[in-house]
Amino acid sequence: MSEVTEILKKYSKNIDNEIENSLSAISPEELYNASNHLFNSGGKKLRPALTILACDAVGGVFEQSFKTAAAIELIHTFSLIHDDIMDQDDIRRGNPAVHTLWGEPMAILAGDILFSKAFELVLETSVDSNSYKKLSDALAVVADACVKICEGQAEDMSFEGKFDVTEEQYMDMIYKKTGALIAAATKSGAIIGGASDEVILAMEEYGKLIGLAFQIQDDYLDVISDEESLGKPVGSDIVGGKMTLMVVKTLADAPDEDCERLISLLKENNPNHVGDVINLFNKYDSINYAHNVAQGNVNKAKQLLEILDDSEAKRALMLIADFVLERQS
Ligand code: IPE
Ligand code: IPE
Ligand code: MG
Ligand code: MG
Ligand code: MG
Repeated sequence: MSEVTEILKKYSKNIDNEIENSLSAISPEELYNASNHLFNSGGKKLRPALTILACDAVGGVFEQSFKTAAAIELIHTFSLIHDDIMDQDDIRRGNPAVHTLWGEPMAILAGDILFSKAFELVLETSVDSNSYKKLSDALAVVADACVKICEGQAEDMSFEGKFDVTEEQYMDMIYKKTGALIAAATKSGAIIGGASDEVILAMEEYGKLIGLAFQIQDDYLDVISDEESLGKPVGSDIVGGKMTLMVVKTLADAPDEDCERLISLLKENNPNHVGDVINLFNKYDSINYAHNVAQGNVNKAKQLLEILDDSEAKRALMLIADFVLERQS
């Protein structure tokens, strides 16, 4: 097992306990079964680990961050349930997606339960005498990330079939749909840990940068991986005509003829064309380009950690920054 896998595993029991308690209601049975479904098949639990590690790394009492960490995982899972409806993807974490088992209306509600329970959990965070300020700041951070996820997901959908998206627009979209929650994870951990404003900002920026790299890697894995290792469909972005950095780069560098070819392939929504699209990405070195952009973000993220005193938690955050691009699932 890699060191990062061990780090993530170390906290997962605490997170699972918080989530189980928060979803212990049993009626209506279908709703709670649907809400619990994705937790029964794991997930990396990267975001809650980041909250706990950020709290620890700034010198805080890391146990105080468990509830907010679990809340961040609930928000993440809510976004996955709704994302699979939006992307029409049927497999998640190696199992049928929530909407394929319970139907879309129930899946929407299952996501809504997780979303609401997340705020309850943040409010249960027990902290010291400065608790009210920390709690309201952490709550504001989580709420803001939720707004950004919705904005980012709306942009993600509106970029389908739009072929003049710039790299800047793509980066802004992935910041909102993915980076903002990872930034909220590290920022809320730093807040609960009692960090100074300067350190809170550095931790937020670290989360944002590894979050951008995380989504670029996710887009890359959608192209090169297989369903077995990923636990979700591959080629889904190409079939869905999604905008990725690889598409943006190919369209920026290819002559008209290949641009038109790529656009028509993406418009066809045909799983048999995934290989042709990958060949075009490779022709313009777009996969390497995307990887290099992501690597640049990871490098910057690691530099930001220099503001922290040395500790095991800081070392773990360094390792996680690299893991974001090393991971294969
Ligand atoms: C997938 O996130 C959704 C994205 C933001 C790309 P993860 O890869 O962290 O999913 P799980 O939680 O491990 O299943
Ligand atoms: C996910 O982006 C962003 C979310 C907010 C869930 P994707 O649509 O690429 O995530 P996967 O690949 O389905 O996990
Ligand atoms: Mg998706
Ligand atoms: Mg999506
Ligand atoms: Mg994806």
